[in-house]
Parts: sequence; structure tokens; C-alpha cells
Amino acid sequence: MTQGRLAATIVLAAGAGTRMRSATPKVLHRVAGRTLLDHVLAAAAPLGARHTVVVVGHGREEVAASLLGRDGVRTAVQDRQGGTGHAVRVALGALDGLRSEDWVVVLPGDTPLLTPVTLAALVALHTERDAAASVLTAVVADPTGYGRVVRGPAGEQAAGDPGDGPVRAIVEQRDADAATAAIREVNAGVYVFTVGMLRSALGQLTTDNAQGEEYLTDVIGLLVAGGESVAAHIAADAGETSGVNDRVQLAAAGAVLRDRFATAAMLAGTTIVDPATTWIDADVTFEPDSTVLPNTHLRGATHLAAGSVVGPDSTLTDTVVEAGAFVERSTVTKAWVGPGAGVGPYAHLRPGTRLGPDGRIGAYVETKAADIGAGTKVPHLAYVGDATVGERSNIGCGTVFANYDGVHKHRTLVGSDVKIGSGTVLVAPVVVGDGVYTGAGAVVRSDVPPGALAITEGRQRTIEGWVERSRPGTAAATAAAANRTRDMSVTPDTQPTPEQLSVN
Ligand code: UD1
Ligand code: CA
Repeated sequence: MTQGRLAATIVLAAGAGTRMRSATPKVLHRVAGRTLLDHVLAAAAPLGARHTVVVVGHGREEVAASLLGRDGVRTAVQDRQGGTGHAVRVALGALDGLRSEDWVVVLPGDTPLLTPVTLAALVALHTERDAAASVLTAVVADPTGYGRVVRGPAGEQAAGDPGDGPVRAIVEQRDADAATAAIREVNAGVYVFTVGMLRSALGQLTTDNAQGEEYLTDVIGLLVAGGESVAAHIAADAGETSGVNDRVQLAAAGAVLRDRFATAAMLAGTTIVDPATTWIDADVTFEPDSTVLPNTHLRGATHLAAGSVVGPDSTLTDTVVEAGAFVERSTVTKAWVGPGAGVGPYAHLRPGTRLGPDGRIGAYVETKAADIGAGTKVPHLAYVGDATVGERSNIGCGTVFANYDGVHKHRTLVGSDVKIGSGTVLVAPVVVGDGVYTGAGAVVRSDVPPGALAITEGRQRTIEGWVERSRPGTAAATAAAANRTRDMSVTPDTQPTPEQLSVN
């Protein structure tokens, strides 16, 4: 037996994808946080081929740009879409030094559900059978649109072939007679070929078919006619081989991946209360005993550590939620939520937010490029942008870090054990020292040394009887008149009370 070797992976991605009705090339549409093409490349990567060639045509610049910086991946341009056979010839032309006994794997760029396990089984079959070609097939309820796998009589079955008889040919839907069209075993468009035999069969392709294209599928019949061995692996899960040709199939593929990633997370110890409304991207990771509540989107490289609780109604992108922390009804992007910390409900953490251990960000708070220290609380209604805040500080309700002077952004530094009073405006750049208090409504424009109280003067003026004089007949005036006898006076006090300094 010839010891072949897997030299290259070829991904066909030059088609227009007309049925997507999109300005974006089909293979760049995304499900579960990756392009269709990236899903295919990720499924093939564990095969360990030395080279990967992606055949591009329609939207070639965009597709090539999406692959920039990918190790060992290059593109080959198919100028005109002359068919899948033509596309493979273009790919072989871009691969130097291939030997006849080498193997190549060929995959369509629009099958995001393929798994490494299935691809490995196909390569294993190719090895075992020492075949010229091995094709992945699936038995489906509705074969419409797919190439049909035509097999010979069962008596001719080659040893080890999983089907009813040896594969004779693949016939496209549009070229199939009624009997052939009734076959429910379909071609997944995934193959392993031995290079020498692939080359000679490609050289014999014609465009004598319904679409006037060079069909890669015809290579199978040509090899069989030439007495070469063709093997077929029937996918255990036919759904894996589904292609995406329109947006209905795109949504269906997304739902399959959602269920797949949720199931894997649950089996690894994460509680997912409602898998049907939990959308998990391919690169999300979990530690056991994390919990995801309904209607939650976990995107990019998000990580949930042990004991963390995320959701309901939250979207986390490229965010780490450390042990025991929670995020409730919030949108969090490129942020780090420290151990035991809490976010939400209704918070918006933008890129560069770091919330230290046991810190708290509450309702209607927005943060950006903010490093918030351990135990510090921003409980409600605040904007914290371009800031560093120390430990155990409290940022009162309604505080605004005014970081933008209309031209440039500036940073604010707030120390530890600081109490920023309600409605304070910190006008950056400004430094507020450790242990500082600011009075309610203070506008802090200059640095405050440690331990100082910063208040903004502008004493309150009270004009007695104004409502009854200036707004006679209103409900307010009536109420004032009715209650004038009651003692409503407050003790004037120039010292802010602790309640005025901060709201917890
Ligand atoms: C193809 C197979 C069919 C199989 C199905 C599985 C052929 C002739 N038919 O049909 O047997 O059941 O896949 O999904 O191969 N492409 C190019 N250049 C071209 C033409 C196509 O790169 O000139 C690419 C497309 O972008 C796509 C892939 O090849 O990623 C398959 O092409 P597509 O037109 O989708 O083929 P199907 O009609 O689905
Ligand atoms: Ca297709």
C-alpha cells in the first residue's frame, strides 16, 4: 500500500452566492461569531495539512482580506466561475511541489456545520482503502439541489464500503433522470483525492452538462471508469453536511451551532437555563458552575469563570467575567469583570472597562476605558470614561467624568477611599487624591489633594412666596397657601451633610 500524505486543503469559495441577495460574498456571512469560511477552515485545521488554498472569485478582495494573517492560508483566483472542477484545477496550479501520491482535501466554503471528527473519518477511510478518491455523503429526507450518489449493485460492494454498493458516479440534480433524482444519498461536496489521479481526471472534464460547467463531481465517474477505487463515507449526522445558499439556511445553521455550543457547555458543567435563547459564539469558553440566564448573547472570546452568573437579557463581547461575578441585563464589550464584582441591571460597559474584585456598577451607568479598583462602587446613573479609580471609593449618583473638551479626550484619576458626591462633574484632566470628599453638584476643574473636601460655591437663593405671587391659581400656589401655617423650614447649614455627599 502506498503511504500517501495529506499535503493541502482546498476550499472552494469563488461562487457569487446569488441566493443570499447580498453585497457581501456568501462565505463572509457570519454565524456564531465566525464567517462561514472560517468555520470550514476551523473544521479542517486539525487534519494538519501543510497548505490551505482558498479559491476566490466573487468579492475576492474582501474574502482575501478576511484571511489576512492566517498562517499557511493563501488564496488562488478563479477569474471566471467555470465550475467546481475548474476551481480545483486553479487551486492545484497554486500548489507547488505536489507529488502524485500526495492527498488533497477539497471542501466547499459554505458548509459551516462540518466537524473535525467527520473529516478525520473521511481521511481515515481514504487511508484504509488506499483510494483514488473518497467522498463524504449524507442520506437526507429531501435531496433537492444536491448531487446524487449513484451506486452499483450491492453484490459488487467493495469490502469496507458502508453503502449499498460501490459508488459509480455523482449526478447533479439538473442532470438527473427521475430514477436518479429519487436517490436520497447526496454528495456533501467534501472529498479526499490522491493528486495524480485527480489531475488526470480533471484533464478529462467536459462542460457537457445542464450548467455548462466543469463539474468536480464528474471526476468520480471518470475515476470509476478508469478502474480506480472510490470510497464513500456516509456522515453519521446528515445535518453536518448542509450547505448555506440563502438566508433561511444561514439562520438554520446558526441555530444548529447555538444548540451545539450550548450542549457542549452544559455537558462541561455550565447551567444554561434556556438554550433556545442563549447564543454562544464559537470561541466562548466556560468554567464549570457558571450560569447563563435566558436571552443572553455571548460573543467573541468571552469567558465565564466558575460561579459567575450572566443574564438575563445581556450581550457580552470579548469579555471576561471572573469567579462569582454577575452581569444582569447589560451590554458589556471588551471588559473585565473581576471576581465577586457585579454589573447591572441596565449598564453599558464599553471597551477598556476593568471592574476590580467586589466592585459594583449599577443601573444606567456607562463606562469606557475605565479602570475601577477593588471594592469601588458606581451604583447608579453615571458616566465614567477615560478614568482610573482606586479602591473602596464611591462614585455618587449622577456623576459625570467629563473627558472630552471638544477636541481631545483626557483622563481623570480618582484615588482610593474617595466619596464623590451626587451630581459631581469631574472635568478632565484632573486628579482627585485619596480620601477626598466632593460635595453634591461640585464641578471639579482642578486637582484635589488627599483628604480635602471639594465643593463648588454658588449659594442657594430662596425667594419666599414666589409661587403664590408669580403663579397664582396653580396647584402649586394652592398647596403652598394651604400649608403656609405648617413649619417647613430647614436649618441653613454651610456644611454638607453626609447624605448630600453621597448616595449609596
Ligand atoms: C455542489 C456539488 C453537489 C453537492 C453540493 C454540496 C458540483 C458540480 N456539485 O453543488 O454535487 O451536492 O455542492 O453542497 O460540484 N465554486 C467555486 N468556483 C466555481 C463554482 C463553485 O469556487 O466555479 C464554489 C462555490 O463558491 C461553493 C462551492 O464551490 O463554495 C460549491 O459550489 P455551488 O455552486 O454551491 O455547488 P452546488 O450547486 O451546491
Ligand atoms: Ca452549495
